[in-house]
Order: sequence, then structure tokens, then C-alpha cells
Amino acid sequence: MSTYQLDTGTSRANPMPQPMRRLTIPAIRQRKVDGATEQPIVVLTAYTARQAQLLDEHCDMLLVGDSLAQVIYGLPSTIPVTLEMMAAHAAAVVRGSYHAVVAVDLPFGCYEASPEQAFASAARLLKESGAAAVKLEGGAAMAPTVAFLSQRGIPVMGHVGLTPQAVNVLGGYGARGRSEAEAAKIVGDARALDEAGAFAVVVEGVVEPIAVAVTEALACPTIGIGASARCDGQVLVTDDMLGMFERVPRFVKRYADLATSVSEAAARYADEVRNRSFPGEDSVYRPT
Ligand code: KIV
Repeated sequence: MSTYQLDTGTSRANPMPQPMRRLTIPAIRQRKVDGATEQPIVVLTAYTARQAQLLDEHCDMLLVGDSLAQVIYGLPSTIPVTLEMMAAHAAAVVRGSYHAVVAVDLPFGCYEASPEQAFASAARLLKESGAAAVKLEGGAAMAPTVAFLSQRGIPVMGHVGLTPQAVNVLGGYGARGRSEAEAAKIVGDARALDEAGAFAVVVEGVVEPIAVAVTEALACPTIGIGASARCDGQVLVTDDMLGMFERVPRFVKRYADLATSVSEAAARYADEVRNRSFPGEDSVYRPT
């Protein structure tokens, strides 16, 4: 039994008007018309209900990324992430949002073996969380899986360029597409996913001309990260852009310095506990 809240805005089941209708995957796909996207697609990662509540009104899509490995769990890579972890965090994000469409990453090892394996994993994620779509990494090799899922009711976002689940094959997290052969492969991979029915393709960590070439080549929108402002949309790992980490990739812009705020608040709290000024008059219960 899942505990997510359905958007029942259009259902007889709910007489209460919803504050805002949730965006849909077709609405995201249709932002790009004849190769042009007037309104860039705003995407951030989200992993918790409260984070989703704060991001929701500003975003078109919330991505429950398997980057939660490093961001939430302190793991060295995304390889150890499980379907259970993704389902639990995706359900929290759906509960915390009512406007942005929620997409969730298929974790490593849960989809690559066959389209059938991918369908079982993706269906479980959508059933248990209420998310609307999945994202998977990989290029032309994953195109049959993208077609299999999208023809069976599961919208799929592709992910090309730097694909972190393939870190053991790539040998690191450096930018991709510097050689002609690699650049051609990235464009070919993205094209194959588009033709297979992906509703969008994340283009991560590629040299800028490749991001532009992919964006121009695809009918569906591209979502850039470490790519180009000319992509059809952008995504960042929220905790990176909030300044929660000292070490971030070069493409991350910090829009806040939450690490300093958290650390300073914890230091003030510790001082006040140690000098017994907390809890003060306003923070204790008095007998009536
Ligand atoms: O896992 C993730 O957060 C991602 C985005 C960075 C695209 O895949």
C-alpha cells in the first residue's frame, strides 16, 4: 500500500478544488515545438517531502535522482542504490508536491538486463510512489527498452553523455565528447532515445557544442546539466546549488550557502545548551 496523495483534481473522488493542477509529461514534451522551446524547462532534484514542498512551485519537474546516494546516504557512487530507496524517496517527493511533475531514476542493476526487467522495476516505482515517469541512463543500447516502456504506459527520460552509473566503465566523472568519435556517439545515442519515444533526454557533462548539436538534433526536449544554456531545460542537484557541499563540479552555480548557515546555527545551539541559556523562558511549558 502506498501513502502518496493522488492528484484527484479531475476526479469525482475529490470534491475539493486543488490549489494547482500538476503538470503532465505530455505538457513537458510539448514545450518543444518544431525544434524550439520558448519556455525552458526548470528541473531540480528532490529527495524529501519538505524539500519538494519548497521547490515545487518554482519547478516544472522534480527529479528524484539516484544522486541521493552521495547527497543523502554518503555513498561513494550511485551503484549501490536500490529500488526500495528510490521508491521511498519518490513517494516522499510526490507527497510534498502538487504542481511539478515527478520523475524518478531507475537505479543501477534494475533495468539494463532486458526491457521486461526494466518494465517490472519501473512499474513498481510508479505504483509505490505515484511518480509519473522514470529516467534511465544509456544510449542506443537502451533504445529498445525506452520503446518497450513508453508503449506500455511508462514515460521515459533518457540520460546521455556523462552517465554516473557507468563510472566503472568511464573511469571517472570527467566531461564527455572531447573526441570526434565520442561526440558522434553521444549525438547518435540521444537520437536513438528520441526516436524510441523518450519524452526528454538529460545531457550531462558534455562539451558545449555537443549539447547544442544534441538539442538541435532531437525532436524531444533536452535537459542540460554541465551542458549548455541552449538546452531546452536545465537540471541541477539541489543540494549542490544550495551550497550544502564544499566540493562541487565546475558547472554548479551556488545560489545559497546553506552549509555555512547550518554550521553556524548548530554552533549557536551548542553554545546555548552548554551555557544553559537554551531552553529559555519562551521554550518551556509552565503549569497553568
Ligand atoms: O541522479 C541525478 O540527480 C541525476 C541528475 C543530476 C540529472 O541524474
